[in-house]
Amino acid sequence: MHKIIERIELAKEIIQIKVEAPQIAQKAKPGQFVAVVLDERGERVPLTIADWDKDSITLIFQKVGFTTQKLADLKPGDFIAHILGPLGHPTKVDNFGTVVCIGGGVGIAEVYPVSRAFKEAGNRVLGIIGSRTKDLIILESRMKSVCDELFVTTDDGTYGKKGLVVDVLRGLLDVVEKSTHTKYPELVYAIGPVLMMKAVADLTREYKIRTIVSVNPIMVDATGMCGSCRCTVEGKTVFGCVDGPDFDAHTLDFDELLKRTKLFKTQEQKADGKKPS
Ligand SMILES: Cc1cc2nc3c(=O)[nH]c(=O)nc-3n(C[C@H](O)[C@H](O)[C@H](O)COP(=O)(O)OP(=O)(O)OC[C@H]3O[C@@H](n4cnc5c(N)ncnc54)[C@H](O)[C@@H]3O)c2cc1C
Ligand code: FES
Repeated sequence: MHKIIERIELAKEIIQIKVEAPQIAQKAKPGQFVAVVLDERGERVPLTIADWDKDSITLIFQKVGFTTQKLADLKPGDFIAHILGPLGHPTKVDNFGTVVCIGGGVGIAEVYPVSRAFKEAGNRVLGIIGSRTKDLIILESRMKSVCDELFVTTDDGTYGKKGLVVDVLRGLLDVVEKSTHTKYPELVYAIGPVLMMKAVADLTREYKIRTIVSVNPIMVDATGMCGSCRCTVEGKTVFGCVDGPDFDAHTLDFDELLKRTKLFKTQEQKADGKKPS
């Protein structure tokens, strides 16, 4: 049993909870996730470890369906039955030079610990975060504290620059192209909706900039047994939960990933009390 010690509503539908989990906290590394099981009959929901200290981990999640809604209803003092982790390979962090870290939507919470690790490793970190609208921008000050420069975008222009995160990246790469004294980033790291990560990958492929994305396929067991998180990288089958979640964006099959995230739509709508569409 894991006690919730803090609950903060960061934005509309985005909740941050701090949960007692000393064994996980002491092993956690940037890029890893946990599988949360709310009660004995609950499904396993993968959530990135957004932060940690000696005894607790911080999870930041968007209410999108049955389990995240139930998790959002829990208060400080309530318990989560099981938390498995840390799961997945940590992000490979080294001193690469300049690293661009991109987070879209709730992916901002996921890119934060990775950006911090790149900064601690001595990189120049350029952060780009974006959401649909102003009210959904989260962790701006935390991201600022670990980035040399931070760019904020909203689709509707209500905050930061109007447009998509990939537009900012394109602008940065254009500047380098026209300049004689700046150079391209050594690495781009992106987490967010599949279409956002695909757009980033398509752009950086043109410039031959190494790009890593953290994938978010549907996971059932999160231990490599069920195959539901199957992805294709370099033409080979890999499992997001045990081989990932980080993969090379230029050889990942994004179209397949997009198709597979809709695999359980009918069951999810049923669990959520909605009529299947
Ligand atoms: C490695 C990993 C780390 C993740 N980290 C976070 C995180 O830190 N914060 C966060 O908010 N979410 C994160 N997710 C996504 C999160 O696991 C899903 O939002 C959650 O499982 C939805 O469960 P649910 O029962 O509330 O909704 P469901 O009823 O299961 O689904 C509701 C809607 O969300 C979509 N959905 C379900 N699972 C996923 C998924 N894995 N990716 C994208 N869409 C999905 C469904 O297609 C459906 O449209 C992560 C996913 C993975 C694989
Ligand atoms: S979630 Fe079952 S193999 Fe990855």
